[in-house]
Amino acid sequence: MFGRIKSLDAILLTAEKKSLKRSLGPFQLTLLGVGAVIGTGIFVLTAVAAQKAGPGMMLSFMIAGFVCAVAALCYSELASMVPVAGSAYTYTYAVLGELPAWMVGWALVLEYALGASAVAVGWSNHAVGALADAGVHFPGVIANADGLMARVALAFGALPTPDLMAAQQTGGFINLPAVFVVVVVTALLIKGTTESARFNAVLVVVKLIALTAFIVLTLPLMHTANFHPFTPTGFGNLTGGTGVIGAAASIFFAYVGFDAVSTAAEETINPQRNVPIGLIGSLAICTIIYLAVAAGAIGTVGSQPVMSATGAYLASGSPEMAGRCAAIVAGGATEPLVCSKHALVHVLQTIGWPTVGWCVGLAAVIALPSVVLMMMFGQTRVFFVMARDGLLPAAFAKVHPRFNTPYVVTAVTGVFALIFAGVLPVGSLADYSNSGTLFAFAMVAVSVLVLRVKEPDRKRSFRTPLVWVTAPVAVIGCVVLYLALDLASKLVLFGWGGIGLLVYFLYSRSRSYVGRELAEAE
Ligand code: ALA
Repeated sequence: MFGRIKSLDAILLTAEKKSLKRSLGPFQLTLLGVGAVIGTGIFVLTAVAAQKAGPGMMLSFMIAGFVCAVAALCYSELASMVPVAGSAYTYTYAVLGELPAWMVGWALVLEYALGASAVAVGWSNHAVGALADAGVHFPGVIANADGLMARVALAFGALPTPDLMAAQQTGGFINLPAVFVVVVVTALLIKGTTESARFNAVLVVVKLIALTAFIVLTLPLMHTANFHPFTPTGFGNLTGGTGVIGAAASIFFAYVGFDAVSTAAEETINPQRNVPIGLIGSLAICTIIYLAVAAGAIGTVGSQPVMSATGAYLASGSPEMAGRCAAIVAGGATEPLVCSKHALVHVLQTIGWPTVGWCVGLAAVIALPSVVLMMMFGQTRVFFVMARDGLLPAAFAKVHPRFNTPYVVTAVTGVFALIFAGVLPVGSLADYSNSGTLFAFAMVAVSVLVLRVKEPDRKRSFRTPLVWVTAPVAVIGCVVLYLALDLASKLVLFGWGGIGLLVYFLYSRSRSYVGRELAEAE
């Protein structure tokens, strides 16, 4: 099963035959990366990271950025050698073989589809918040699923703590705005709206203006006292959930999406040079911005975690935490940063810039759908390539007669994403997505090393610097962040992977084109 390798030359030949128009240069590619990366992570998960690590989340942003940077250096070598659609899945197929490739493709469903759900929930938080600030109150019962989750937890025997009971009473049943945005994006993708580079550039500018305004207004108001205690929950450990490293595992989501650059390699002028520039350039820009934003948020309003009524640590996104936050606000206190569903808007409102805060929220409402679109588009591309290889039903690759888009796979992706967007909190969705992404990144790093050994003489326009250090560090980094996720997120990868193995052995293995060619040749 590891012997089923799709030849690199065959992949490149297919790509050449069916190649798309090459029009993207290094600048557009970097913009594409920044456009795909900046989203729910910084706008919303800053609060989640603060609950896990307090001000120590500054270190979490650095750790997550570092792991992404070494992973991006590995991505760059493969993306510049194999500039075709399908990214991590295609690379693994060419290097490690069919089963690992299948598992990577399967894990990418977590990255892209659940990632799209997470960004959709982030969008919903901002849309509901912006409406409320404008005096339009969206009914809470359909604005989130905290109440539903509390009932599920109680049904499964969770202790009926006051916090959980509060969540049951005040929380909603479904996140309808999140479902709405997924439906709209799915419809746009089926109609054939691939974002034009120019439209993307406008949205990137909107996001950059919003974040720059945040930085400019918050940095002068910082108090060093807000940085103490710096790591209230400690550094964390590999059993997961909290501390600096636990927050790094969650905030990793804020950097995900730079691989969109590598999926655009087929449309890039001189991909050998420009893809690495786009990947690393966008990551560098985002890291600098994130650190400044995190410092501004911590320094102005503080970011200490909220504890339960009895002083116990509360897991971010848990119904108990939702209940505790509701109780704090009901008691008349200012909502702590860690409770906010739209962290950056909240900070600006708290420090006396409500109108700018509203505009930043509006910027998120305008720009986040493009991140949902990018993730769903990535998902359809991966499914499409897997179907083209025979590993998924050919119906998945069916193209709409009028719109000329792979509508079946797009609709399937949309349904998957909207179900999860409707019922799960943003932090959990991001963590589940991360578990799949970390797996895919680790496999890419392994592939780079294997290919260096197997085909040392193949032309590499971009060589990962110090590959024997960089790639193992990337693998270790991904494994450490994976272990630092909470138990549920770790189990999601295993559960989903188990289903994937079943599908592979019951369906895909016998239908694979590479496998069938091998059988014929025997
Ligand atoms: N990095 C993207 C975001 O933060 C997925 O929304």
